[in-house]
Amino acid sequence: MSEQSDAAFEVIQSRGVTDGVDVAFILGTGLGNMADAVENPVSIPYADLPGFPELTVSGHDGNLVIGKQEGVNVAYMQGRSHYYERGQPNCMEVPLETLALLGAQIVVLTAAVGSLNADFYPGNLMLVTDHINLNGMNPLIGAKGDGGFVSMVDAYDQRLQRRFKRATLSSGVNIREGVYMWFSGPTFETPSEVKMARMLGADVVGMSIVPEVILARRIGLRAAAVVIVANFGAGFQGGNPSHSETRQVAAQGAITLKRLIRGFLRIKEAEPQ
Ligand code: HPA
Repeated sequence: MSEQSDAAFEVIQSRGVTDGVDVAFILGTGLGNMADAVENPVSIPYADLPGFPELTVSGHDGNLVIGKQEGVNVAYMQGRSHYYERGQPNCMEVPLETLALLGAQIVVLTAAVGSLNADFYPGNLMLVTDHINLNGMNPLIGAKGDGGFVSMVDAYDQRLQRRFKRATLSSGVNIREGVYMWFSGPTFETPSEVKMARMLGADVVGMSIVPEVILARRIGLRAAAVVIVANFGAGFQGGNPSHSETRQVAAQGAITLKRLIRGFLRIKEAEPQ
């Protein structure tokens, strides 16, 4: 762990957070108000936390909110930093390390995406089962020694996927399942890139989560990702994505995602077999 994550951890403790965190959430574009569900929240601006992102895009609030939800100790990051903001694939390393120092063993990533699957409509939720990264970028490039050889076989934790699927039953929320392909952004894809991604087997495209999953796996956090379809991908089913549409559709989807997460937190996880 870095000096910055140690320092961020100390700031958090100095704000009166004494209980460990069980589950951490990273909220994508337009999803910040999902943290409203936290009881007795301690909210700390990223600006007070060494190594936390200085946010440059709209739709991200920039606070770490810690408290209880459904009897579980939770932390919500309201907004993330993306590779495309400064060209650093490891820009979420310190926040993830800090969440681990707080005791989190599970991190749930959320984001808005473009759909490449004719059955996945704007407003739908999708559980990510795997990803494709052909960006040529990886947050572990330059990792010392053998530390970068992280297995990606179970990158999206099976037990967490089952827990989310069980939560759909109790919460009455429908969820799709599929593969996420990471594009660097900040431009949206071209129609030809969208066509290529479909041919490669992707169901959605997006500009986040992949470097975070890799960093999370490196430090032993179990990861899951639930994404909201904001639009059809460029040129697919008439898709012509924009940031304002992403923000708007994601904010609507946040209501359903909130219900799903409530259901998820209520479920006690079975021990690994
Ligand atoms: N492509 C990439 N990222 C996105 C999209 C998209 O179509 N929609 C929302 N985030």
